Amino acid sequence: MESPTGHSTIEHQRLTDAEVARLRADFPLLGRAMGGKPLVYLDSGATSQKPRCVLDSEQHYYERFNAAVHRGAHSLAVEATEVFEDARTTVSRFVGADTDELVWTSNATEALNLLAYSFSNASAGLGGPAAGRFALGPGDEIVVTELEHHANLIPWQELARRTGARLRYIPVDAHGALRLDLAEDIVGPRTRILAFAHVTNVLGTVLDVAALVALARRVGALTVLDACQSVPHLPVDVKALGVDFMAFSGHKMLGPTGIGALYGRRELLNAMPPFLTGGSMITTVTMESAEYLPAPARFEAGTQRVSQAVALATAADYLAEVGMDRIASWERNLGRRMADGLASIPGIRVLGPDRAERIGTAAIDVEGVHPHDVGQFLDSRGVAVRVGHHCAQPLHRALGVTASTRASTYLYTTEGDVDAFLDAVAGVRGFFGVGA
Ligand SMILES: Cc1ncc(COP(=O)(O)O)c(C=O)c1O
Repeated sequence: MESPTGHSTIEHQRLTDAEVARLRADFPLLGRAMGGKPLVYLDSGATSQKPRCVLDSEQHYYERFNAAVHRGAHSLAVEATEVFEDARTTVSRFVGADTDELVWTSNATEALNLLAYSFSNASAGLGGPAAGRFALGPGDEIVVTELEHHANLIPWQELARRTGARLRYIPVDAHGALRLDLAEDIVGPRTRILAFAHVTNVLGTVLDVAALVALARRVGALTVLDACQSVPHLPVDVKALGVDFMAFSGHKMLGPTGIGALYGRRELLNAMPPFLTGGSMITTVTMESAEYLPAPARFEAGTQRVSQAVALATAADYLAEVGMDRIASWERNLGRRMADGLASIPGIRVLGPDRAERIGTAAIDVEGVHPHDVGQFLDSRGVAVRVGHHCAQPLHRALGVTASTRASTYLYTTEGDVDAFLDAVAGVRGFFGVGA
């Protein structure tokens, strides 16, 4: 595949304006106009745009390889299986995992539910003695944080309800900073699972993974990292982070929808009972019972999302070629530009702690104007942002708002995009006749 950056060696530590302009040409959708204005896409936290090579990759799979993977005895099926498994290797390497530690799911939500349902099955006695370490019951505790996306909250609420375990959470302060000072008392001998985000989808702040992993290790709890907003934007090495499980979505990292992944430490995955059962995940089946394949096949029942996995691998290659360090520093630069600009606009409150490490995301509250009105006004200027609670109602409640307006960047976002957003935000209150 041709180098997406147009040069084979990475010469610069940070992306330059010119490189970003070149990269943008790879993304057909970014050339669109909205309502006669150039599209300023600042909703990558919700879903990213896709480069041409990813779109081509999915189509190429169907044109060259499409067949049933892990099933057929014919040559085409063997090739399809190879392409599918190569994709797994590429994506697992991208996050520092081994190939057999990466389970395909349809998205991060499914990855987190897979875990919760597998633990629920273990709690019901499925999976034999090896699965006993995942069994929960009354007296056990699951700990999350108050800033989680609902995808990393509700599956744990349901698991607690099904097993009688107690769900606890590490709160945030009034600015949305995690109260790590309280975590030591909350994560205790009863804690069996500690599940938390790497980067918050609302504020863009980066959590102290090392501190949280250390707390969990001290009490022998399993750690689950929601890496939905980190894997696309930061270099992530899951082994260096030291978590037991990690979930992420393909569509937020230039890949197609319908594909995500669950990383799990090999020995854990192989001891866990399956969530979905059926074809492709068994060794022997009788009319009474079945024996299951080792991970990852044990968790991949039924026909898989092959073209999506292949295209996600292309996306991971693209990101790696640009360089995750360089993407992260570009987005930090955009984040600073956004924060500085917003600070100078009257009536705007930027949600989140002042001096926290952030990726290029800003959630704002515009005094006197409902976020949906803000969103519509920005849309009329061609600026696409997300409004609402961003699937994080508890965090918004803790911040004292019901909803916010979120702008989120990616490697293809220009400083001009950020300036267009700032310009539009500066016009909101005047347009609605609020403030001076
Ligand atoms: C932090 C975080 N976790 C989980 C999710 C859920 O991702 P998906 O809808 O792709 O399953 C999102 C999506 O916005 C997210 O930002």
